[in-house]
Amino acid sequence: MEKILVLDFGGQYNQLIARRVRENHVYCEVHGYNNFDLNAIKNFEPRGIILTGGPQSVNSDDFHVDPKLFELDVPILGICFGAQLMAKTLGGKVETAPTSEFGRTDLNRVGASRLLNGMSDHTTVWMSHNDRIVELPHGFALTASTGNCPIAAMENDARKLYAVQFHPEVVHTVEGKRVFDNFIDVCGCRRDWQMKSFAETKIAELKETLKGRALCALSGGVDSSVAAALMSKAIGKNLTCVFVDHGLLRKNEADEVEAVFKNFDLNFVRVDASQRFLARLSGVTEPERKRKIIGEEFIRVFEEEAKKIGAVDYLVQGTIYPDVIESGLGKAAVIKSHHNVGGLPDHVDFKAIVEPLRLLFKDEVRAVGRELGLDEKIVSRQPFPGPGLGIRIIGEVTADKIKIVQDADAIFRAELESAGVVSNQYFAALTNMRSVGVMGDGRTYDYAVVLRAVETTDFMTATASKIPWEVLSRAADRIVNEVAGVNRVLYDCTSKPPSTIELE
Ligand code: XMP
Repeated sequence: MEKILVLDFGGQYNQLIARRVRENHVYCEVHGYNNFDLNAIKNFEPRGIILTGGPQSVNSDDFHVDPKLFELDVPILGICFGAQLMAKTLGGKVETAPTSEFGRTDLNRVGASRLLNGMSDHTTVWMSHNDRIVELPHGFALTASTGNCPIAAMENDARKLYAVQFHPEVVHTVEGKRVFDNFIDVCGCRRDWQMKSFAETKIAELKETLKGRALCALSGGVDSSVAAALMSKAIGKNLTCVFVDHGLLRKNEADEVEAVFKNFDLNFVRVDASQRFLARLSGVTEPERKRKIIGEEFIRVFEEEAKKIGAVDYLVQGTIYPDVIESGLGKAAVIKSHHNVGGLPDHVDFKAIVEPLRLLFKDEVRAVGRELGLDEKIVSRQPFPGPGLGIRIIGEVTADKIKIVQDADAIFRAELESAGVVSNQYFAALTNMRSVGVMGDGRTYDYAVVLRAVETTDFMTATASKIPWEVLSRAADRIVNEVAGVNRVLYDCTSKPPSTIELE
C-alpha cells in the first residue's frame, strides 16, 4: 500500500493535513517526530513525507532533526514550522519576523512552481507564524511571497523538496487543495486508497492474526458498532458483544441496536441495567459526579457480564484516529470528564486490546460501516455522549425525567428531520426549572424543556443552528401538547465557547 507520512511537530492543524491527503485517496499516518526516528521513517516506506507546523522555534537550542531525512530521496513537503525546519537544516536562515502574520493573507506567486502549479498568481492563504525564512537554502527557488513574508514558498524541484509558510490544509487557504494535489502527483501515488479496500484488508488481517475469543462493549454509537461489525466479519461467533442499556439512551434506541446486531454473525448480549443506574444516580445532582458514576457503573456491569462469559483473549475497542492523535498531544484543561464505552475495565481477563478503527477518521468509519452493510440509522447517527441522557437532565435523574426528555427529544428530532433542517447535532434536554403555565382552564407548574441544535465541524467550537421559526414553534407546540409534565420550551442560542454543546 502506498503511504504518506505526516511527521507531527505539534501544530494545531495536523489532523487536517492527514484528512487532506486521505481525501486524495492516499493512505497516510501521523507520527510524532520525537518517537519516529530515521530508521522508523525508512521502515515506514513512505511515498512522501509532510513536515507539519509546530509551536516552537527552529532556532531554539533543544531542537534538531536528522539532516539525513532530506537525503532519503523521498518527496518532502514542509508546512509552516516544517518549512522553516527544511530551510534551516539545509543551510538557509530563519529569523523572528518583525511582524507576525496571523490569519488571511494575500499571496503572490513568483516564477514557475511544481508545487503551486495551477494556483492563481494572487490568492488568499492562511498564515500563522512568528518566525520566517529570510535566506533560501542552496539549490532552492523562491516561488511565492506575501507583504510580511518575502519567502512564503520555496522549492528544490530536482530534489523534490517543497515548502510553504502558509497552511494549505485549512479551508481559509482558498486554493490549498492544489498544494496537496500537486504534492501527491510528485510522490507518484496512484490514489487508490478506498474504504472498500480498508474493510477487506482489515478483515483479512484480523482473520489472520486473531486466534481466540473477543469481547466488545457495544454502545450503539457509530464507532463501537462499526468495530463490532468488522470483527464479526473476521471472527464470527468468536465475538461476543455486550450491550449495556443504562436506561439513558434515546427513545427506542436500545431496541434498534438489538434489532441490527441480532442479524450479525456474533453473540449478542443485551443487559438491562437501567434500575442499577437509576439507583446509583438517586439524589445526585452535581454534573461531574453524575458523569463519574455513570462511567464507573458502566464498567462494573460490563465486567460482571464478561465474568459470566469466561476468559477471553481480546478486548475490542472503538478507538478512532482523532482519539489517538489527541492523546499524544499536551494536556488541556478538563472541562468535562468524558466517558466513552471504551473505558478500560480493571478486572476483565484478556491478553490484548484490538482497536480495528484506530487509524480512521469519523467519516471514514461511517464509510466502512456502509461498506459492511450496517443499518444507515446507526452509520449516520449523530454523536451521543457516553453518559447519555444523564447529562441532558439538569439535576437529579429520575425515571419520570428520563421519559420526558426521551419523548421531547424524539419529537424535536422528528420535526427537524421532516423539515430537512441540516444541523450537526440536535437534541432536547430537561432543565431543572419549573414554571407556571395555563392549560385548558387550569394552572400548571411544570418543567421547561430546552432544545439545542448546533453547527460545528470539530465539536470543539460550535454555533447555534438557525432553525426556521415555524419548525421550532411546531416542535414546541407538539412537545407541550404531547409530553406530560412540560409546559414551556426554550431554544438555546449560545455558542461554544462560552457554553458547551451538552448542558452538563
Ligand atoms: P461538549 O458538551 O463538551 O461536547 O461541548 C462536545 C461533543 O462531545 C460529546 N460528548 C461526549 N461524548 N462521551 C462521549 O463519547 C462523553 O462523556 C461526552 N460528553 C460530551 C457531545 O455530545 C458533543 O458532541
